[in-house]
Amino acid sequence: MRQRTIRDRLLSLLVEYQPKFVSGEEISRQLGCSRAAIWKHMEELRQQGYEIEARPRNGYRLMYRPDRVAPEEINLHLQSNKLGQDIRYKEEVISTQQHAHQWAREGAPEGALFVAEQQTEGKGRLGRPWHSPPRTGIWMSLILRPPIPLTEASHLTILASLGIKQGIERVTGLPIQIKWPNDLMINGKKICGILTELRGEQDRIHYVIFGIGVNVNTPVEKFPEELRSIATSLAIEAGQTFHRATLIAAILEELEKVYEQYLASGFGKIKKQWEDESQIKGKQVIARTFQGTIQGIAEGLNSQGALILQTDRGWVPVLTADISLK
Ligand code: BTN
Repeated sequence: MRQRTIRDRLLSLLVEYQPKFVSGEEISRQLGCSRAAIWKHMEELRQQGYEIEARPRNGYRLMYRPDRVAPEEINLHLQSNKLGQDIRYKEEVISTQQHAHQWAREGAPEGALFVAEQQTEGKGRLGRPWHSPPRTGIWMSLILRPPIPLTEASHLTILASLGIKQGIERVTGLPIQIKWPNDLMINGKKICGILTELRGEQDRIHYVIFGIGVNVNTPVEKFPEELRSIATSLAIEAGQTFHRATLIAAILEELEKVYEQYLASGFGKIKKQWEDESQIKGKQVIARTFQGTIQGIAEGLNSQGALILQTDRGWVPVLTADISLK
């Protein structure tokens, strides 16, 4: 289990007592460190935008907590065994994928998470850009090291969409639809995209990185004009904003459950659950692949995780494509 830093524990204590004061003596006792050390950590929190009132006789109280996705905020909510136990955080990056690849090459443990407040060149599937404005969404990359061969990599994409959907639903109560292979939608508009990248050889995956982008609190006017008809945010759909660190914790916890189930019992149950939740079976689908367009009726997934379409030419498995429903 992750070691919690003094700053993590100090923030937990202030949040736990909020809106009341907690005395310097009590903080010192609970954290097992000197008043001077506490003062230093208080100052660091203030520099990050936390407003902490200090009164000589009463102690400290938290007045304002900024919406940040820093580890100390995620750790306040996260109860997982592996996912998110090691978090790296930056205010601004080109893409969290870049950092996660480097970290994975250097030996990042399974479950390591790289998260940022803003990406200047966020990457989407098929080389598309991913719009990642500051402090409005979740832009994160999760590293896993599943003991499976490359031929089964599509399972990962399927299980990621399922886990992330369940995490978002748990916090927001909004009904999320899955669009194959791994887009999450509300009322036909995209709220989350997942970019699965991996390194491996024929019989072994070295690591996989799930790049997860969720439009959380983005207002309509912050979406570029061309995205407004196809993308939305949780806040637009729910009419309220959401605490992003809480959402990250829920996503990691639900994803961990699905992943552990997969490692313990294989793809069978995940496949069934995905087929039920995606409600794709029996729908007329148009799949645009690199080789051309395929039209057919969706039959579900095969054991590899490919979408099976019943076409004029018989059954066709589709492993990667952009799909639309007819
Ligand atoms: C898609 O095209 O639907 C996938 C979008 C994935 C976006 C996320 S945001 C965090 C991570 N870093 C990136 O540059 N991309 C992924």
